[in-house]
Amino acid sequence: MTAGLTSDLLRTKSLDRLNADAEAGEHKLQRTLGPWSLIGLGIGAVIGAGLFSLTGIAAAEHAGPAVVISFAIAAIGCAFAGMCYSELAGMIPVAGSAYTYAYATMGEFVAWIIGWDLVLEYAVGAATVSVSWSKYVVRFLHEFGIDLPGNLVHSPFETYQLADGSTAHGLVNLPAILIICACSYLLMIGIRESARVNAVIVMVKLAVVAAVIGVGVFYIKPANYVPFIPDNTGTFGEYGWSGIMRAAGVVFFAYIGFDAVSTAAQEAKNPQRNMMIGILGSLAICTVIYILFAGVLTGLVHYDAMRGDAAPVNTAIAQTPFPWLKNLVTLGIIAGFSTVILVLLLGQSRVFYTMSQDRLLPGLFSRIHPEWKTPYRSNLFFMVFTGALGGFLPISQLGHMTSIGTLLAFVLVCLGVIILRRTQPDAKREYRTPLVPLVPILGIVSCGAMMVSLDGETWIRLVVWLGIGLVIYFAWSRRHSRIGREEAAGKA
Ligand code: ALA
Repeated sequence: MTAGLTSDLLRTKSLDRLNADAEAGEHKLQRTLGPWSLIGLGIGAVIGAGLFSLTGIAAAEHAGPAVVISFAIAAIGCAFAGMCYSELAGMIPVAGSAYTYAYATMGEFVAWIIGWDLVLEYAVGAATVSVSWSKYVVRFLHEFGIDLPGNLVHSPFETYQLADGSTAHGLVNLPAILIICACSYLLMIGIRESARVNAVIVMVKLAVVAAVIGVGVFYIKPANYVPFIPDNTGTFGEYGWSGIMRAAGVVFFAYIGFDAVSTAAQEAKNPQRNMMIGILGSLAICTVIYILFAGVLTGLVHYDAMRGDAAPVNTAIAQTPFPWLKNLVTLGIIAGFSTVILVLLLGQSRVFYTMSQDRLLPGLFSRIHPEWKTPYRSNLFFMVFTGALGGFLPISQLGHMTSIGTLLAFVLVCLGVIILRRTQPDAKREYRTPLVPLVPILGIVSCGAMMVSLDGETWIRLVVWLGIGLVIYFAWSRRHSRIGREEAAGKA
């Protein structure tokens, strides 16, 4: 019995089988994405709420102008993981990403855990950003004298101020639901269509970021950079080097999403080469942008003045002679957030698509639309699930769950590279992570350190979420597992 259970939990899916399954059957995705589309998807998912909202908070509360160092540190941790993702995504170009790599290396149980965990990155991440999107839309419309009813832009857990100064609870965050529905619809009607819309919006987003950097750099006040690393207050994480580290954990959220490129592996042309280009290309571009952006922001506004500022970018623009840029930038931010939601929802549907093909989840998640060639029912399911999270729950407080979920996936992907190098040393690898096992180990250590820097409540939430996953696995998935059934039939 125990031996049976152990062998169930440890059963793996061979590389040949994984690749054959991806190319076979009626539930097949289409390979249409080239290197630029993949880089576009990466940038689409990465630049968003983290950059525009968290840079100011991280500088004001933790690192001061040295937040640029925090961005560099977080990028190094992501680069280690990014190299590991690139190797595995090229070797196993299947939509399941980290879930699939774990199935090939660590067995079904760990694979299930990581697939379940990815809901925190993709669905919860998309819901979190949808709430930020809603806030920016409300603020933007307010600039033009349009005020949406407070109870329709706040969830029941939030309060807002009425005209007479009293407060009231919200009813539903309607804009958050609307953007999730719009992105889900686009994802349903086609991957090529989604990638095209994403590419156009990414251009707008990059133009806005370039405008802030290009204009802002001329109005930097060098005095704002002094002191560059403010003295630690005596409390861990409040300035000094511990503050820089804490800020790295905070701004890590800004990098989340480059790994979502790997969930498009089954829809990529020549994935052996293009996965690496998409993942590492988008990560490199975003790193340079982030460091420049953070440098300009903290040069325009003193870090202390950004404390409690919900819109530090607007404050920074007000320091230039072009305050009218503000509305343009807000529009760019709104557009930019929408691609984050789009690509995270894409990633979510693809991971569940693969889990469903393996029969660890019900078949509805892998049903492909005959014409659109997308897992449309999965998109529909997550439209409802994520819409409910964004529209009715205090999801904005759960941003750290997205970070911890992503970091856990990164750690396991790094581990997967080490394992696969041992178990399958001769398998074809177009892209090889350099200096194995050093780079994966550094990835595990740096991502692990960022996990540890997150608060206890986030850890408890992670454990609860994984606990729910365990119940589902033992109640349903383990018994329905396709590999499990095939093994049982083979033994019979
Ligand atoms: N990296 C994405 C963002 O910052 C999740 O919005």
